[in-house]
Amino acid sequence: MAGVERSGADSRKPRVVLGVSGGIAAYKACELLRRFTESDHDVTVVPTRAALEFVGAPTWAALSGKEVAADVWAQVHEVPHVRIGQQADLVVVAPATADLLAKASSGLADDLLTNTLLTARCPVVFAPAMHTEMWEHPATQANVAMLRERGAHVIEPAVGRLTGVDTGKGRLPEPAEIFAISCDILARGNARRDLDGLKVVVTAGGTREPLDPVRFLGNKSSGLQGYALARTACARGAEVTLIAANTTLPDPTGVEVFKVETTAQLQEQTLMACKDADALVMAAAPADFRPQGVTSSKIKKREDGTAPQIELAINDDILAGISHNRPNPGLVVVGFAAETGDESGSIYDHALAKLARKGCDLLVLNNVSGGQVFGEDDNEAVLLAPDVEAEPISRGPKAAVANVIWDRVSKIIAQSQR
Ligand code: CTP
Repeated sequence: MAGVERSGADSRKPRVVLGVSGGIAAYKACELLRRFTESDHDVTVVPTRAALEFVGAPTWAALSGKEVAADVWAQVHEVPHVRIGQQADLVVVAPATADLLAKASSGLADDLLTNTLLTARCPVVFAPAMHTEMWEHPATQANVAMLRERGAHVIEPAVGRLTGVDTGKGRLPEPAEIFAISCDILARGNARRDLDGLKVVVTAGGTREPLDPVRFLGNKSSGLQGYALARTACARGAEVTLIAANTTLPDPTGVEVFKVETTAQLQEQTLMACKDADALVMAAAPADFRPQGVTSSKIKKREDGTAPQIELAINDDILAGISHNRPNPGLVVVGFAAETGDESGSIYDHALAKLARKGCDLLVLNNVSGGQVFGEDDNEAVLLAPDVEAEPISRGPKAAVANVIWDRVSKIIAQSQR
């Protein structure tokens, strides 16, 4: 894992400090804590005094398996106000209240958490949660801008139900989302926004082509790799549009999401989004064929026992269309190739032919023999580009694979701007 030395005798779990400030969403940090501990992280919980009004120290201690320290006066001989931050590989503050963000941005250090934030030299993630008015207040926005400028990662709050009857922007993103972003940043070893200023479009999921009111032709794509691409690009500062076909995954926070069903809808949204984009990554699996006609009533079994014949029409190849006729000259286009070898060639033969046929700048080759990849958390791939040696991406979480793809995309963009 980058940024964390874990080799040989030094092998150890990544050290995460979970800071919790005083908002009602503190209870959701319990699930975040579970996710960290269950995936082998060593977590020290540092709640503020106000956070302990919402969730008590015994809960944090039981879930983290460690004594909970909240003030600088406990175990003073161990100098916790300095040591906890110095030793951390990652600090995540969830929820981060307006008050906590203000203290962090101005460098106040009046409790253990704010002391920890000043002594930490590792990546820091803030997951804000507050009422919309507080989030939108120029003071909070200035504090967030300052923290981001200094290299911290401030996750955009989600939109939805807030405390009481209010709804709006300010909700704590789902713990699964905060966890995914945090793991990605921990793996990268930094929270750099190196894709700042770029606009990227990602497609994900598998399209469905209706046959009748209850049936469709579809495929096994889960959308996980596309969502990981969207989330990591957003974490690295890009403005991200995600076009999702038939996925059930939660919307990544800070990403504009369009939901589509068919290949034609995916094509229309993708073309629109690409007009002013810097990069398109086609991670979706669009159906190549659709039933020639959709019947308005359910197709019934026939009395003579024969099966109905379904005539298929060919869908457009979105990737090839956009690669050969770019909606803007600067658009970098990335395709995926899900291949199995067969008697006519190996997965590489098929992928190289596909790269040439589609005309994209980069092709991410996945070996899907035996149904590998679909719905799994990990992936491995090979990056193929015209006239460049193939670059293998070793097996790892889909977020790690996504980061290698973005590294390569940003390199291509930088080269084209020279
Ligand atoms: N793709 C597309 N439009 C289609 C089919 C595929 O844009 N109608 C894109 C996918 O999003 C992917 C790439 O093309 O980025 C390759 O998809 P894949 O299913 O591997 O290739 P196909 O072109 O469908 O070829 P085949 O199924 O014959 O291997």
